[in-house]
Amino acid sequence: MSPEIPFVFHFCLSSMLLGCIAAVQLDGLTMELIHRDSPQSPLYPGNLPLAERIPKPSACPFAGLHHQTSMMSANKAATNKMISPLTSYGDPFLFFAQVGVGSFQEKSNHPHFKTYNFQIDTGNELSWIQCEGCQNKGNMCFPHMDPPYLNSQSKSYKPISCNQHSFCEPNQCKEGMCTYDVTYGPGSYTRGNLANETFTLYSSHGKRTALEDITFGCSTDSRNMKYAFLFDKNPVSGVLGMGWGPRSFLAQLGSISHGKFSYCIKANNTQNTYLRFGKHIVKSKNLQTTKIMQVKPSAAYHVNLLGISVNGVKLNITKTDLAVRKDGSRGCRIDAGTLATLLVKPVFDRLHTALADHLSRNQNLKRWIIHKLHKDLCYEQLSDAGRENLPVVTFHLENADLEVKPEAIFLFREFEGKNVFCLSMLSDDSKTIIGAYQQMKQKFVYDTKARVLSFGPEDCEKNG
Ligand SMILES: *[C@@H]1O[C@H](CO)[C@@H](O)[C@H](O)[C@H]1NC(C)=O
Ligand SMILES: *[C@@H]1O[C@H](CO)[C@@H](O)[C@H](O)[C@H]1NC(C)=O
Ligand SMILES: *[C@@H]1O[C@H](CO)[C@@H](O)[C@H](O)[C@H]1NC(C)=O
Repeated sequence: MSPEIPFVFHFCLSSMLLGCIAAVQLDGLTMELIHRDSPQSPLYPGNLPLAERIPKPSACPFAGLHHQTSMMSANKAATNKMISPLTSYGDPFLFFAQVGVGSFQEKSNHPHFKTYNFQIDTGNELSWIQCEGCQNKGNMCFPHMDPPYLNSQSKSYKPISCNQHSFCEPNQCKEGMCTYDVTYGPGSYTRGNLANETFTLYSSHGKRTALEDITFGCSTDSRNMKYAFLFDKNPVSGVLGMGWGPRSFLAQLGSISHGKFSYCIKANNTQNTYLRFGKHIVKSKNLQTTKIMQVKPSAAYHVNLLGISVNGVKLNITKTDLAVRKDGSRGCRIDAGTLATLLVKPVFDRLHTALADHLSRNQNLKRWIIHKLHKDLCYEQLSDAGRENLPVVTFHLENADLEVKPEAIFLFREFEGKNVFCLSMLSDDSKTIIGAYQQMKQKFVYDTKARVLSFGPEDCEKNG
């Protein structure tokens, strides 16, 4: 269990009890990641039977895989035209963190910050939230359940003047104030003002910790921001950047995180999980360790993927398909904000062929062609035995093997009364990303100071 949080001193802006926050020297932090369907979520479906509360996608249950929406982060691809059925079926990855923002004139019985839901983005640096300026003429807001953040009314909101702060990109300014721009894909971006604000974190014990002067983006204009949540009921206001770089929330946590965080993605339930920082990371035995690298300007965590095996048989993969190119393209990232693993086409094709060969020998399976164009690899289970002897895929990283079990390789669904499963990895023109679906039931510890990633199988239900 995580240690009790040491409180150094308290301050209250007005009332004696309500709204007090502790300004503390923490040496660790545990943030609860709230599942979309948990009682703490604004989308808590209450006691509705499962069948009623999960909206059924109108089309084929797997088509959305090709319009991948991310789970722990803002959408990365502007081409995403629909919500993945993975997510609309209530998959295990819809988590967000609740964080208090700002300091407002307190009315009795109200805390003096406002709580918003953030997605966690392990692929980008800067945190941002949708601010009131998005309602100005010519700007755009993304659909959201709550009104935008009223930054002008917060006493702790401090815009950063042009070129006065190292987080301010040189001359990225408007009217003397520093601006920011985060692009998630062609045509998908958030822009606005760079500012400091007080962020109040809820720790696992219900304690609150105020962090002053966190530099973030106050979004006044965003385009094509789609979330892994329902469009009309999107509870997510912004993103906490957990990527690699000085502007990252992880780095701004300073001695609380020591540049280290961990997560463990559960399968099959709607329970909350934890994002742990610094000394709150629970020690595990037998973790393997591999090098993580920065490939600038990207803030993503890159790993050396040396090869892939199917049931212990190495695929014939050309090394240059996985190596980082001079222009920073290719290579391999690990990212919990990407739903299904992406593999560059030649590598994907080899894996597809090897898996298809293996599965074609299973007489309890029948190949399903859902979408020829996208090279789906789907099977109908003709009997329960169809679930047996499914292959294991191993990603050979430098000095460490990430073994992915069938339950994290394939997506199992009931469709039109049949048990069907499909490969939940995708081909991509340029990127290789080990995504969250293939990370489930394993614990991952990112250490940006030691530049290593440790991981290993873990019972994530036990709050790993
Ligand atoms: C914003 O916060 C940083 C520390 O995170 C500090 O160095 C800087 O002076 C602050 N700027 C303003 C305008 O408050
Ligand atoms: C591996 O692939 C390369 C390029 O496609 C091919 O030239 C080579 O013969 C293959 N090697 C094996 C052992 O199949
Ligand atoms: C979910 O639970 C079912 C039965 O409890 C099990 O057969 C299945 O493997 C689990 N799926 C995952 C992804 O763990």
